[in-house]
Amino acid sequence: MKSKLFEPYTLKNIELKNRIVMAPMCMYSSHNEDGKVENWHRTHYVSRAVGGTGLIIQEATAVTPQGRISPQDLGIWSDDHIEGLSELVSLIKEQGAKTGIQLAHAGRKAVLEGDIIAPSSIPFNEDMKTPLEMTADDIKETITAFVKGAERAKKAGFDVIEIHGAHGYLINEFLSPLSNKRSDEYGGSAENRYRFLRQVIDGIKAVWDGPLLVRVSAKDYHEDGLDAEDYVVFSQWMKEQGVDLIDVSSGAVVPARIPVYPGYQVKLAETIKEGAGIPAGAVGLITSGLQAEEILQNDRADLIFLGRELLRNPYWPRTAAGELNEEIQAPKQYERGW
Ligand SMILES: Cc1cc2nc3c(=O)[nH]c(=O)nc-3n(C[C@H](O)[C@H](O)[C@H](O)COP(=O)(O)O)c2cc1C
Repeated sequence: MKSKLFEPYTLKNIELKNRIVMAPMCMYSSHNEDGKVENWHRTHYVSRAVGGTGLIIQEATAVTPQGRISPQDLGIWSDDHIEGLSELVSLIKEQGAKTGIQLAHAGRKAVLEGDIIAPSSIPFNEDMKTPLEMTADDIKETITAFVKGAERAKKAGFDVIEIHGAHGYLINEFLSPLSNKRSDEYGGSAENRYRFLRQVIDGIKAVWDGPLLVRVSAKDYHEDGLDAEDYVVFSQWMKEQGVDLIDVSSGAVVPARIPVYPGYQVKLAETIKEGAGIPAGAVGLITSGLQAEEILQNDRADLIFLGRELLRNPYWPRTAAGELNEEIQAPKQYERGW
């Protein structure tokens, strides 16, 4: 039987050659603190394309300077970023992978000089800065920054956009009642807490007709926080808005312990996929081809996102193919060693 991991997958208007996705991972390598692509990014991403990954999602890329996690983050807040990103996209595509970018704003988890902003003026923990509560103008400007980021991503030639709605960064801070204590139309009910993400999605959809993914933290690991069932509702709304796939991660909106074991977030992806009837990506300690194949064959997720395993092994697709008795094409320069 043919494996599913190496079956192509159609994501809206593009075809991925397999179901293997490189999860967004911050490299903190814009050493000049200008958000620009450097040699490290070129080497790092292009290596995974040579290794056979189907879709490479570039790390959290900040839509405003204030929305960076650190001063070394990649950025897309200025037209000056387009040239470097466009070169990176061409280099990756030349090696046969599709390209995605994760558009991000760190909210209260920014570790930067100056003011930081969030839905409510509550710090993440006692070591982090207390953010300023966003005004109506801040909200409008930040939504516009996401939309401008999408326009620039389009100009740079990315195939896919992923909105970073996970891990306790700005969008996640709006969604969770643990970090959103607003009394205006952006806080309170689930609909109100979703409003910021709704407007980001609508804004992006107006300028981008390619595949749109949203990464969520589908569990807060806190008794007063959100769980997968809450995210089924958000995911239904996202589906209605034309989001193509939910990339299902978890945690980090408040400092809570996450029980970690192989495939620890797969159940969350499965719940969203079934409950909302939308394609889902599974991520989190997926390390073998057999494990990935089990998830896909049992319809628990549609795509397999790999983080740390791809840091250890850029040739993971070849390793997984070996486990699944598949052969994947070597880059022709490497045929003698394959
Ligand atoms: C070095 C590193 C950087 C990361 N940066 C991001 C990021 O920019 N955006 C994001 O959504 N997740 C980020 N993550 C989380 C990964 O995308 C992934 O969800 C997580 O590592 C779990 O998958 P894994 O067990 O395959 O590594 C990062 C993880 C690592 C290890």
